[in-house]
Amino acid sequence: MQGFTEEEKARIRNALEGARSPWRIEFLDLVGSTQDEAQILLETGSPPPFAVLASEQTEGRGRRGRAWNQDGAKDLSLSLVLRPGDSVPALLLPILLAGALHRGLEAFLPGGGCRIKWPNDILLGGRKLAGILIEGAGEGSWIAGIGVNVGRRTFPADLANRATSLALVLRRPPGRAEVAARFLRETASLLERAEGGDPGPALEAFHRGFALLGKEVVICSRGDESRGRLLALDPSGAALASGRVFALGEIESLRGAEP
Ligand code: BTN
Repeated sequence: MQGFTEEEKARIRNALEGARSPWRIEFLDLVGSTQDEAQILLETGSPPPFAVLASEQTEGRGRRGRAWNQDGAKDLSLSLVLRPGDSVPALLLPILLAGALHRGLEAFLPGGGCRIKWPNDILLGGRKLAGILIEGAGEGSWIAGIGVNVGRRTFPADLANRATSLALVLRRPPGRAEVAARFLRETASLLERAEGGDPGPALEAFHRGFALLGKEVVICSRGDESRGRLLALDPSGAALASGRVFALGEIESLRGAEP
């Protein structure tokens, strides 16, 4: 079992130096799911914001009840427990986190190339590089789990054609601690701005990665497909040029109309 080295821990802690409120960071070796560990810490009195990182995870959870597969200590698994101030609408959180993760990953990918897929997957070359699972934890707290394929080079057969990793596309891939540090720094900075009443940077970061603003899109909501130009997407909904607005919570899929 390969836990986090002191160097990795220092790199991650340093990323949050200067953040307005200190974030506790818990480093664990082997867990079932960091989501569950985060919930336990919250219930036993740890005040948000804090992050739980596990070197290895055996029962990782994905969205829609799916499992999240991690390759031992090569990949990044972390859960963030946040209780944003009243100025941050709950629906901004997935947007902000996807924007922060996209920015954090793009920093390692010269020439860019990674994209946000609705609602908050990160794809590279059409394959999944990272995912976010957000679970409500009561009393205004949210547990956001982030999984990034960092150092693995192989996947189980059912994922092999659908997933990728930084190690598969970069000659000198970063370590999991570098990826975590970038993501945490971006998140803290966007959150600080949003809590100060300015959601603009979070929306900009999301739209840079999502890249569908002003484009023809297909929205699937309540079983119906609608097509049109995407004029706006923010916590108040996704607005098409036709005047139709879709509540974010009711969007099952949102993709570019072009193949
Ligand atoms: C998805 O794309 O379906 C979301 C994947 C989220 C995986 C992360 S890994 C850290 C955290 N702990 C979990 O059990 N799941 C999330």
